[in-house]
Parts: sequence; structure tokens; C-alpha cells
Amino acid sequence: MPALALAPALRPAPRIVPRPGPGLELPAVSFFGRSLAEYAQCFALDLAALKGRDVLDVGAGPSSFTVEACARKIDAVAIDPLYGEGAEALAARVETDYTRMFGQMRAKRRLFRLNSFSSLAAAEIDRRAAAQRFIADYEARFYHGRYVGGALPRLPFFDGTFDLVLCAHLLFLHAAQFDFDWHLAAGRELVRVSAGEVRIHPICGPDGKPYPGLVRLRRELRDAGIASEVRAVDYEFFAGANTMLVLRRAAP
Ligand SMILES: C[S@@+](CC[C@H](N)C(=O)[O-])C[C@H]1O[C@@H](n2cnc3c(N)ncnc32)[C@H](O)[C@@H]1O
Repeated sequence: MPALALAPALRPAPRIVPRPGPGLELPAVSFFGRSLAEYAQCFALDLAALKGRDVLDVGAGPSSFTVEACARKIDAVAIDPLYGEGAEALAARVETDYTRMFGQMRAKRRLFRLNSFSSLAAAEIDRRAAAQRFIADYEARFYHGRYVGGALPRLPFFDGTFDLVLCAHLLFLHAAQFDFDWHLAAGRELVRVSAGEVRIHPICGPDGKPYPGLVRLRRELRDAGIASEVRAVDYEFFAGANTMLVLRRAAP
């Protein structure tokens, strides 16, 4: 007997599997962080020279840069819009965002160079340990001012407060959430609170291609009295992310 053809309405609906895009998908800014060792590489930091200097980490997330830097007598402060929430809420956010991000990284392994880690698993262990160090310190130090709630493009600090200002994995990666004007305002604000250099890493988008507005951004910063330089760094986790943008107030 011929098989009964199902009426169209009774046929099971085709399973639509969303096709992953070519780049990393960053629908929102993740609460994701790295260790001081990774910061030292992606910002080409001379840690010994920073002893006793004031350093600001902007968009610091659950990075352990600040706690580890303070242990080395660097006067580090971290700022992030999520600071102010309780430690438990931040730990839960770490869990959600790390699971999502590392899932994506495993699915899109070819987007990563991993020249600082033996494997993605090793990177995950290292970054989860960084987040744990952050959570423990955050609980103890939030009320001492080491962790400040705030967001670009307006930072709650006086002009020239810090010797060095760092900003990792925020600018340029989220062009969908932050437009050109936001990037320009953010660059100017980072320089305002710095008495020395601002270092921003990486300079590419989630597709690994250079930020398309970079030439215009550097020109408009120059018109605002800010000198910029693209510097190579000996670090590449995300393929193409092997440079940083250095900003400083131009000499009069
Ligand atoms: C991907 S994480 C990077 C964390 C850390 N800088 C690192 O590289 O390991 C980006 C962080 O930027 C924070 N963020 C989002 N919007 C921000 C804004 N407007 N100003 C400053 N930080 C922001 C997020 O809360 C998140 O913790």
C-alpha cells in the first residue's frame, strides 16, 4: 500500500537551524574578563615600571587586572557600568556570559589564534580563575573605591587623574551598539582623565577586520588635539587583534 501523503498542514514544520554568522556574534557587551598576564600582553605593559603609578581599567568587567596590579603596588582602579551590583549577581552574570562566549568560541575555533594559550580549554580555565579572583576582591573592596560604577562616554574622575588608562574589548568590537559619535566621545573622555597614555585594544570588529571608522576617528581626534598611534602588540587571541590604539594629548 502506498504511504499516505500527509496533508501540508500535518507535515512536521522544517527545523530551522540558525546558520552561524562568519564572525563572533556579540549582540550585547559581555561581562567577560582576563588576567593581568593577558592585559600585560595585549597592552604591551612594563609592569615593573607601573609600580606606584595610577592606572585606570575602563570597561573592566570581571577582569582580575586590578586586584593583581594592586598586589604589585600599582595603584589600579577599575570602572564598569555593572559595578554596584552585588557580588552574587555579578558571579551569576559571569557564569551566563562565559558559558555563552566559550560555546561560541568552540563553535568558531577558526576565528582564534590563541598564541598565549595551549588550547581554548586552557584559556577558559585561566579566564574563569581571573573572574573568581575579581569576585572575591570585588566583595571585599567595592566600598573602598577600587571598583567604581560608571560608563563611557562620561567617567566620574577629574582631568588627568591617571598616569595610564586602559580599555580592552569594548571600543570597536561593538559597532552595532555604539556608533561613531560614541566612539569619538569615548576616545576624548579616556584622554581627558589621563595624564599620560590611553591604550585601547583591539582595534578590530568581531569579524577581525579593522574598525571601518578608524581613519576618520583618528582625524577627528587629531582635530580635537589628541595624537594617536597604532602599535603592534605581541598578542593575538582573536585573529586580527594584534594591535592597540595609543592616544595622548598632543603637545601644544
Ligand atoms: C568584554 S568585557 C571586557 C572586560 C575586560 N576589559 C577585558 O578585556 O577582559 C566589556 C565590559 O565593558 C563593560 N561596558 C559596557 N558598556 C560600557 C560603557 N559604556 N562604558 C564602560 N564599560 C562598559 C561591560 O559591562 C563589560 O564588563
